[in-house]
Amino acid sequence: MNLSNKIKTGVLGCTGAVGQKLISLLGNHPLFEVTEVAASDISAGIKYSERVNWKESSDIPKSVKDLTIKKCSDEFDSKILFSGLDSNVAGEIEEFYANKGYAVVSNSKNHRMSADVPLIIPEVNHSHFELIHKQQTYKKSGGFIVTNPNCSTVVLAVTLYPVYKKFGLKKVMVTTMQAVSGAGYPGIPSMDILGNVVPYIKDEEDKIETEPLKIFGTFSGGAVKFADFIISASCNRVPVRDGHTMSVSFETEKKASKNEIIKSFGEYENLGLPSSPEVVLRYFDNPFRPQPLLDGMTGNGMTVSAGNLRECNILDWKINAFGHNTIRGAAGAAILNAEYLVKNKFLK
Ligand SMILES: NC(=O)c1ccc[n+]([C@@H]2O[C@H](COP(=O)([O-])OP(=O)(O)OC[C@H]3O[C@@H](n4cnc5c(N)ncnc54)[C@H](OP(=O)(O)O)[C@@H]3O)[C@@H](O)[C@H]2O)c1
Repeated sequence: MNLSNKIKTGVLGCTGAVGQKLISLLGNHPLFEVTEVAASDISAGIKYSERVNWKESSDIPKSVKDLTIKKCSDEFDSKILFSGLDSNVAGEIEEFYANKGYAVVSNSKNHRMSADVPLIIPEVNHSHFELIHKQQTYKKSGGFIVTNPNCSTVVLAVTLYPVYKKFGLKKVMVTTMQAVSGAGYPGIPSMDILGNVVPYIKDEEDKIETEPLKIFGTFSGGAVKFADFIISASCNRVPVRDGHTMSVSFETEKKASKNEIIKSFGEYENLGLPSSPEVVLRYFDNPFRPQPLLDGMTGNGMTVSAGNLRECNILDWKINAFGHNTIRGAAGAAILNAEYLVKNKFLK
């Protein structure tokens, strides 16, 4: 496809960890090109390459490095705005742009649980995109907000959705081991994390305990009815650069055999979008997998990996799960959402 035929997009929060990953992944995207970038007033007016502390292994895309950073109150020429904004400011800024008619594809927590905002993993609940039609801004200006889940929620939800769908869930317990890149840049000081584990991540447990219930919820009558099971989460920051690992125990509604559960993992539909991984959920019958260093980039970072399903003495089963937090858990998830929106003609 010719560059000029691509859909112009803007990135809000372009200097942050998620913003950089968005710009890196969109650098060679078949549908989208980044033509505008924005951040705080401190960054605004400065050339992108002079302001950003670039942490991606690939170079800054040529088309982006000379862009002048905009303010998050400026007009954009692009219809789609990806948001990697700090959650302290994302709420208001995203509403501002939705009101003005932009399609805001957000990574931030602020609107995830709003009744009329879709919280989406396309392979799990793309029917919830219909909530966009309930947003007042969509009716007035064509603008709307869609969100992707918290980075740990994505890993947990992709691992458990096939089990939920086939056998139902009653109880889930999850302990996470989350990478430092999940806290943005520069994030947690090296003195606090090297050779260490920090057993608290602000607000994280609440997100993991609630977001899957919305994602697994049923969409009918213009609203999402939340799934009815309980989740208990304990979250730890560990000295891993990228990728969240977790130990998950779960009790099912209907009893299932190990083979039946493993078989269900392969039943994901491939949506055929440019960022869709060939395998949505990869299962290893190997107690040493998944691992961040080995499995982070499976499916270009979009595959969630699980391994070593075994009996649990308290709930029915336990399993290890892993996913790339800034790709499947953030930038890649947002891009997949935007691809779905374009393919299914949600943009007015
Ligand atoms: N990191 C992850 O793995 C991950 C995963 C899922 C979701 N998220 C969510 O994604 C969002 C971004 O996370 P991050 O890790 O990329 O954070 P980050 O590295 O701290 O980046 C935050 C971005 O927000 C911008 N910003 C800060 N204050 C602003 C203001 N007043 N007006 C406009 N822009 C402002 C910053 O621009 P300046 O440089 O100009 O300050 C920067 O571009 C957060 O809501 C986070 O919770 C992160």
